[in-house]
Parts: sequence; structure tokens; C-alpha cells
Amino acid sequence: MENSASTILVTGGASGIGAAICRMIIDRGGHVGIVDISDDLGTALAQELGENADYQHADVCDEAQLGKAYESLGKSLPPVTGLVTCAGVSPTRLPIEDYPLEEFRRLVDNHVSGTFVTCKVIGTDMVARGGGAIVTISSALSIRPGPMLGYGAGKAAVLNLTQSLAVHWGKKNMRVNTIVPGWVDTPFIRRQEAAGRDLSPIKDVTPMGRLVKPKEVAEVVLFLLSPASSAMTGAAIVADCGATLGGGWLPYGELP
Ligand SMILES: NC(=O)c1ccc[n+]([C@@H]2O[C@H](COP(=O)([O-])OP(=O)(O)OC[C@H]3O[C@@H](n4cnc5c(N)ncnc54)[C@H](O)[C@@H]3O)[C@@H](O)[C@H]2O)c1
Repeated sequence: MENSASTILVTGGASGIGAAICRMIIDRGGHVGIVDISDDLGTALAQELGENADYQHADVCDEAQLGKAYESLGKSLPPVTGLVTCAGVSPTRLPIEDYPLEEFRRLVDNHVSGTFVTCKVIGTDMVARGGGAIVTISSALSIRPGPMLGYGAGKAAVLNLTQSLAVHWGKKNMRVNTIVPGWVDTPFIRRQEAAGRDLSPIKDVTPMGRLVKPKEVAEVVLFLLSPASSAMTGAAIVADCGATLGGGWLPYGELP
């Protein structure tokens, strides 16, 4: 992020990683437009963040609704210079034999169409106004397959979409990068725990032995929005406490 002149729009900004990004942008002197479907959380966060923040409701898969929200934010905030596509839904953990097609479609659609629509509506306008930076949010499941089929396929497509847009807008002063988070300690993960999932095996196979903190992802996002990353486009930055590396040497036994 450049400085107080930066105005960043964050989809899925009402909760978890998105909310941590919004707080960090305000702390560092920028403006933030929060777009989400969780109106109570979004409104409360905008109030907490003060006059440099605003909240608008929009489902990121709905082009007309997102366009309207973007127009409204344009009345209360300076023109958007950066975009973070953080809206997302929790994975469903099932083997393919039991995985309903509708559920697969829901997960792919929310992540892929949501990122596509957001970049189409807001990214296109940013390009028309001289460019900026976009950060999408993929997942460790996009590079390390797991039993969360719709989610993993969707996030792998988000990574590919990010790189396609980086190529497409490369000469238009628009950088497009993605973060590949591991397990981040947000309501998203806590919902898995509430549904009976034991999180300790995740920590056990993570080299750093813990979940990623939302603030740690926010730091990387702000780096990718800032001129410090001016040579980077189409990059996929892994922020996972080492989770995608696997559990180390234990399966191979003691070293001689
Ligand atoms: N938490 C993790 O371990 C983890 C790991 C890898 C990637 N991610 C990704 O990070 C992003 C944020 O996840 P989080 O953990 O902060 O989750 P979260 O549930 O705390 O926040 C997600 C937000 O997105 C909003 N949202 C969902 N669908 C939307 C839609 N169609 N339109 C607008 N808003 C919508 C929700 O209302 C919510 O406020 C997601 O894209 C998620 O897939 C999370």
C-alpha cells in the first residue's frame, strides 16, 4: 500500500482475514471499502474503523449488485487504487462418491465466479483510471490436494485466473497477485472445529506447529498492494507456517 492516498476495496472484508486487512489499511493511513453479505459484521467494522471506512452489501457473484455497491462506495471514499478479493466460503470435506454436484458447483462458483466478477467490475474500472494492484486469495489446497474437492478445484482456478489477469493487464499498470494461505485462525476454521473437526493433526504436520494469524496474511497482502512489490505480478505467495511442505522427516525414521 502506498500511503494515506490509497483506497482499497476488500470483498469478504467483514470477517477473518478480510477484516484483519481492513484494520491494517486504516492503521496505516488508507481508506477502505468493505463489501460483504454479512451486513451486521460489515456495518460494525466500518463503524469501528471510522470515517475512512465504509461498508456496502454485495454478493460477489452478482455483477449488478457488486456494481451498485462499488458506485455507492465511490460517493463516500476516494477512487479505489487497490482491490483484495477475500470473499469465500468454508470447504466441504467429503469423498467424491458422496459429494453432491450442487455442493461442488456452489464452492467452485463462489470462489471462481466471485473473483471473476469482482475483477471484471472493479479491476476494469481501475485499469480505465490508470491501474493499481489486485490481490486475490487462493489456498494451500490449490497446490497441495486435499479431500475438499469443490474448494480445492475452485481455489486452483482462482490462482490460474489471477495469472491470466496478470498477463492480460501487464502493460496497463495493473499488477495481479495471489496469496496461498495455509490454515489461518479465523471463524472459517473455527466453524470446522465446531463441526467436530480436530485441528490438532493440522498443527502436528505444520512445520511451525501452529495456525497462521489473520494479521500475518494481511501483512503479505499489504506488501503486494505496495510499491515494494512493484516488479511482482502473477506471483503466488505461500503464507502457511510451512504447512505445504508437510510434516518433516518423521515418516522416514531417525537419521543415521
Ligand atoms: N481460514 C483459512 O484457513 C483459509 C485458508 C486459505 C484460504 N482462505 C480464504 O481466505 C478468504 C477469507 O477466509 P476467512 O478465513 O477470513 O473466512 P471468514 O468466513 O471469516 O470470512 C469470509 C467472508 O466472506 C464473506 N462472503 C462469503 N461469500 C460471499 C459472497 N458471495 N459475497 C460477498 N461476501 C461473501 C463472508 O460473509 C465472510 O464475511 C476466503 O476466500 C477463504 O477461502 C482461508
